[in-house]
Amino acid sequence: MRTAVARTDRYARGAIVFHWLIALAIVFNLWLGIAHDSLPKDWRVMPVHKAVGITVLALTIARLVWRLGHRPPPLERAMPAWERAAANASHWMLYALSILVPLTGGAMVSGGAVRRPLDWVGLFPIPYLPVSESVGGAAHEGHEILGYALLALVVVHVLAALRHHLILRDSTLVRMLPILRAPTPR
Ligand code: HEM
Ligand code: HEM
Repeated sequence: MRTAVARTDRYARGAIVFHWLIALAIVFNLWLGIAHDSLPKDWRVMPVHKAVGITVLALTIARLVWRLGHRPPPLERAMPAWERAAANASHWMLYALSILVPLTGGAMVSGGAVRRPLDWVGLFPIPYLPVSESVGGAAHEGHEILGYALLALVVVHVLAALRHHLILRDSTLVRMLPILRAPTPR
């Protein structure tokens, strides 16, 4: 039997579309970023990595602006206070890293640490950020550290979503992924 999730407890369609578009793009870009050295040179993955990253930056800013007018539903009522605090903190860190990782990528390329053309898969140019060579070098380090921090946070986030769905059997995952069946309480 399908257990209904109350309408007020669901994410709006816009929040769901933003969430999954950005999640897909980030997972793809983490893979391209980490694997680029071992992928065939003629695949030319870096222009794709940069374009996807800039798209993540634009979509995340649009998502946050959209969110100002569309409050997310309250967290599951049964969640203890520490879990609410952890959920809120990790969500804001995911937002922050979805902005900082592409920004440090852009700064690294602009500062000449990895001096390459900056465009959206050759379709239109993206302006370089006004940064010095030393800031570009620091951004290179930052891109790597923050990129791996984002990967770690995504792993924790996914494990938390699976814990809610498979162990706690509440509606947390279903309200962000409504094509799933709500788990039946034990
Ligand atoms: C969602 C956005 C992004 C994610 C998750 C991401 C993630 C990563 C990761 C994990 C690496 C490997 C780091 C290492 O092991 O050295 C990497 C490398 C790289 N990223 Fe990104 N990145 C993103 C956006 C961007 C953007 C917007 C740019 C430039 C405009 C960019 C430029 C680069 C470059 C040039 C490298 C290679 C650096 C090297 O070979 O030393 N990235 N990225
Ligand atoms: C890969 C990059 C991902 C990022 C950057 C990301 C980011 C976020 C953010 C910022 C929120 C909070 C939305 C808000 O209330 O404003 C959220 C919620 C959520 N995400 Fe993700 N997410 C990612 C991947 C995933 C994946 C793969 C899953 C599932 C396996 C998932 C499951 C969820 C669920 C269930 C919620 C709702 C949490 C709740 O209602 O308390 N996310 N995500």
